Amino acid sequence: MTSLLIRNGTIVTDAMEFNADVYCEDGRIVAVEKGLDAPVGCEVVDAQGCYVMPGGVDPHTHMQLPFMGTVASEDFYTGTAAALAGGTTMIIDFVIPNPGERLLDAYQKWRGWAEKACADYSFHVAVTWWDDSVREDMGTLVREHGVNSFKHFMAYKGAIMADDGVLTQSFPRALELGALPTVHAENGELVDYLQKLLLSKGITGPEGHPQSRPPKVEGEAANRVIQIAGILGVPVYLVHNSASDSVDAIERAKRAGQRVFGECLAQHLVIDASVYYDKDWNRAAAYVMSPPFRAKEHQESLWKALSGGVLQTTATDHCCFCDDQKEAGRDNFARIPNGTSGVEDRMAVLWHHGVNMGRLTRTEFVALTSTNAARIFNVYPRKGAVQVGADADIVVWDPKAVRRISVETHHQNIDFNVFEGMEVTGGPAYTVSRGKVAFERGELRAERGAGRYIDRPPRAPYFGAQELYNAKHPLRSVSRPPAKEASSA
Ligand code: URP
Ligand code: ZN
Ligand code: ZN
Ligand code: ZN
Repeated sequence: MTSLLIRNGTIVTDAMEFNADVYCEDGRIVAVEKGLDAPVGCEVVDAQGCYVMPGGVDPHTHMQLPFMGTVASEDFYTGTAAALAGGTTMIIDFVIPNPGERLLDAYQKWRGWAEKACADYSFHVAVTWWDDSVREDMGTLVREHGVNSFKHFMAYKGAIMADDGVLTQSFPRALELGALPTVHAENGELVDYLQKLLLSKGITGPEGHPQSRPPKVEGEAANRVIQIAGILGVPVYLVHNSASDSVDAIERAKRAGQRVFGECLAQHLVIDASVYYDKDWNRAAAYVMSPPFRAKEHQESLWKALSGGVLQTTATDHCCFCDDQKEAGRDNFARIPNGTSGVEDRMAVLWHHGVNMGRLTRTEFVALTSTNAARIFNVYPRKGAVQVGADADIVVWDPKAVRRISVETHHQNIDFNVFEGMEVTGGPAYTVSRGKVAFERGELRAERGAGRYIDRPPRAPYFGAQELYNAKHPLRSVSRPPAKEASSA
């Protein structure tokens, strides 16, 4: 039996703060009370001066993703270890089948890759094409494999893009299974057109990347997919919103009573588009990800959307490509593998620029880094909670810890850090994964293979409301008298 007592801290949940100790046994929280005694042999963590919060849930990562002719440098071992170093105790990664590939085959492949993970993980599965086997595999994945969300890329034409036809097949199928459709909203046709246009004008460098994916490209797709989901009566989750254009689309839909969820990335909150105009090609290329970084005014609208409830989750889209991999696009920005790191730094960036700057309360921080994702993807209160019965995935957060983020000291397997040089105050003193201390004041004790696959049951609570709403707004028929016999005039 493993046991752990976290003493003297202030517990912060998504709803309240209170002083109590937390006692964990065999990976679960078994007591949350004041003045708990440590049984013999129990490991004790002193959380004096610290906040005891649910471990972070990053609902958007891509460990060892095969993408754009290469494979992401960060694998499930190094990636989850880095996550633990930053206070994140669960990731939801993506199974991305090639068009024509059976969803179940891809899922099994990813499950194999993830066995080396040191923190808990789960998978969204992408719908990149459509036929009857996709429909069938979606059912099997939900019923037998703990998948409750399906991803759709509206961009990446000629590769994994799902057009409106695919969305229209997949969304109602997801609804009938109690699974949530999630979407990368960018108009793939426009991106393709603009990439070719820029290249034809001799713009081949990384500055072509943001110009081929302006905010309206994201806004158009966000508006379209929200309308499609609204017409079909399906809840929808938009990943990595980077622009006020898509935030506005989500806000409008919410005001109209539609069940829409939105995510944003730590990177988009603090990095702007000027990085693509760096004279140094390698530095500019390192920031190539989609959607791209935006003009500064978009950052403030993302922060307001987080504190105002328009966006519910923060993620990283952690998808690492090193210099030599980015090099594939030296003569053509459209070939630079898309992706940046962040899984280790998300919580500190959110705390420093959110809580320390008065944009977020501590409870909002917990909601936005952990609890909301756990609720939306239906693993709450197993994850995202510090309460009896929950998994002992906990971060003991030291609000006074100061760190200068750098590639020199990070644990991520990538040769660049997009937050390089940023000084953040507040960070994990201890990260507890499945009841064991996996990170202690700078020292990583992550254990290869200790992470477990987390089944996510279908029909999160909001499905009941959606179905009731749909039932109250049925398609209508009109009964009419039979047509008159054709009269022989
Ligand atoms: O640039 C990105 N975001 N790469 C990963 C794939 C995706 O679009 O999420
Ligand atoms: Zn994406
Ligand atoms: Zn992604
Ligand atoms: Zn390098």
